[in-house]
Amino acid sequence: MRPRSTASRKRTANPASLALQRVLVTIKQRRFSPRVAAGILIGAIIVIHLAWSASFPGTGRTVAHTNQLADRGVRFDRERDAALSSSLFEFPPLDDLIDRDRLWPPDLEKPICKPTIFVYSLPQHLELSETTVKQCRWSAYNSELLLYKLLQDWTPSSELAQHVTVTDDPAKADLFFVPLFPACYCFECWVKAGWTKTERCGVDEDYIQPIMKWVQSHDSWARNNGADHIIVHPMDFGDGYYTTTSRSAMNATIHLVTVGDNRRPPFSSHFRHFQDLVIPSSTHLINSYHINPMDYLDDQGHPLVEPRGAAAANVGHDPNYPPSTYPEIWSPSLGSKRSNGPSSWFKSLTKLVNPGHETKATTRTITAVFRGGVGNPGEDERYALNIRSLFFPSATGNVSEAPFSRHVHQGLSSLPGYDIAKWSDNDDYSRRLSRSKYGLAPPGYTLDTTRIYEYFAFGVVPVFIGTGHHAGQVLPFRNDFDWDEFTITIPRSQAHQLPKILESISREKYEQLRQNVWNVARLMVLEGKRGNVWKWLARDLCRMRRIGTDAGPDISNN
Ligand SMILES: *[C@@H]1O[C@H](CO)[C@@H](O)[C@H](O)[C@H]1NC(C)=O
Ligand SMILES: *[C@@H]1O[C@H](CO)[C@@H](O)[C@H](O)[C@H]1NC(C)=O
Repeated sequence: MRPRSTASRKRTANPASLALQRVLVTIKQRRFSPRVAAGILIGAIIVIHLAWSASFPGTGRTVAHTNQLADRGVRFDRERDAALSSSLFEFPPLDDLIDRDRLWPPDLEKPICKPTIFVYSLPQHLELSETTVKQCRWSAYNSELLLYKLLQDWTPSSELAQHVTVTDDPAKADLFFVPLFPACYCFECWVKAGWTKTERCGVDEDYIQPIMKWVQSHDSWARNNGADHIIVHPMDFGDGYYTTTSRSAMNATIHLVTVGDNRRPPFSSHFRHFQDLVIPSSTHLINSYHINPMDYLDDQGHPLVEPRGAAAANVGHDPNYPPSTYPEIWSPSLGSKRSNGPSSWFKSLTKLVNPGHETKATTRTITAVFRGGVGNPGEDERYALNIRSLFFPSATGNVSEAPFSRHVHQGLSSLPGYDIAKWSDNDDYSRRLSRSKYGLAPPGYTLDTTRIYEYFAFGVVPVFIGTGHHAGQVLPFRNDFDWDEFTITIPRSQAHQLPKILESISREKYEQLRQNVWNVARLMVLEGKRGNVWKWLARDLCRMRRIGTDAGPDISNN
């Protein structure tokens, strides 16, 4: 028989005597005075005895089993505290890796590949009219237009050029962007039809199909049968609004969608799991009303005592708004277009007398913010998985009456620090967002809601309630962003515990989340200036099309 190795013999030795030995060696090495040494020794013996008896409970004990378990729990806590304060559990932290690329999430400034994108120019008769486009800027389908515009405005010196190249030469392209905006087409159609969503206005025969026919006549389509072509579908059901003929024509392409769902069909039936990439949806606040969060916050994301003068200028539905410029979320607006008269004169005077006034920041005092409705009678769990029934007071517990709860309760809105309401005007909502720690994110008709990106833009930590990746939602850029670093997730079954859960988050933990929202999550917000969204999309497209992902000589983690 082979002799046992020292290592395996060590493992079977009595841990208590080993620990005692270690204490004795330490005392000897450190040369403590006899009194201190005796004290340490007695302390160590007590700790080791407790640890030993916990490892083998029940020896010579007559207490009832349940009591014993409870007792053990308490004792375990005490031992754990003792062990934590002794040096028994001390190990050196791992050294930083020299090659940071072995870790995830990645350094976002280092692209996986730099894909070259060709953007088709449609013949004029296939383009949407200017009025349709203008109308669409007021819709959540604006993302179609923003993503297109960001590529159109690309220059070799733009920030985006570190991550993506836009080319005029289809032969050089890895990917092809099709400026097809069927959601904008439908939006205008539905506005005209008074929101009769069955109305189509010829979107299939007059719009999608002619454009797809034109695109498919190019050599660049034939090269990969369209698999390297990109089309945006920012509506809840993706391409599910169109006829089979239209969907077939677009079927080979990569779709950029705003709703991804891992639940079983029918909930996920519009999501084409390996062909669709989820993008952040466009928010009205930022991309339609051009509210700039930086008019309400300082550069660290803390609320300004008084929003900057420019903030008020963008409020209201001015037909000339939004202007042709892009919405801004990275630096304060330059000035107020509409502030004439005595108030602006008075403001300038105050600024002169007290120059720090406009940028004085304070702290967030609202625990949780939410603006939104509860659905309609009869929708029951089809709307928001019934989670919003907890948000507002339920006086009757009659499920047919808002907020559609089977129980009588006071509603989360009644709690101090909970700023929950159906509606606010943009400026009011922006002020409240800037002063809120957490933002509630229950589902609506889908798991996705655009308010997540309003929260990010305003430095608010989102609280997924029955949403998020633990609930089956496919989150944008989950391959490169660790959403757990900047969001809180509460499963539907614990929605009623929300106040307790938020209360239990320490100040330090909250501050960490807040900083991650401000420094990391905010980079996901769809806006028109920096176009970060294309940087993260490029990473997913590199993976999807396997561009620049060849294995090197060193395959890690073997
Ligand atoms: C799209 O392609 C898939 C896989 O080839 C096929 O099963 C599906 O029926 C196609 N859908 C349409 C609408 O053509
Ligand atoms: C519940 O509310 C509905 C709608 O208001 C009403 O018709 C119904 O009678 C109510 N049920 C009870 C038990 O009060």
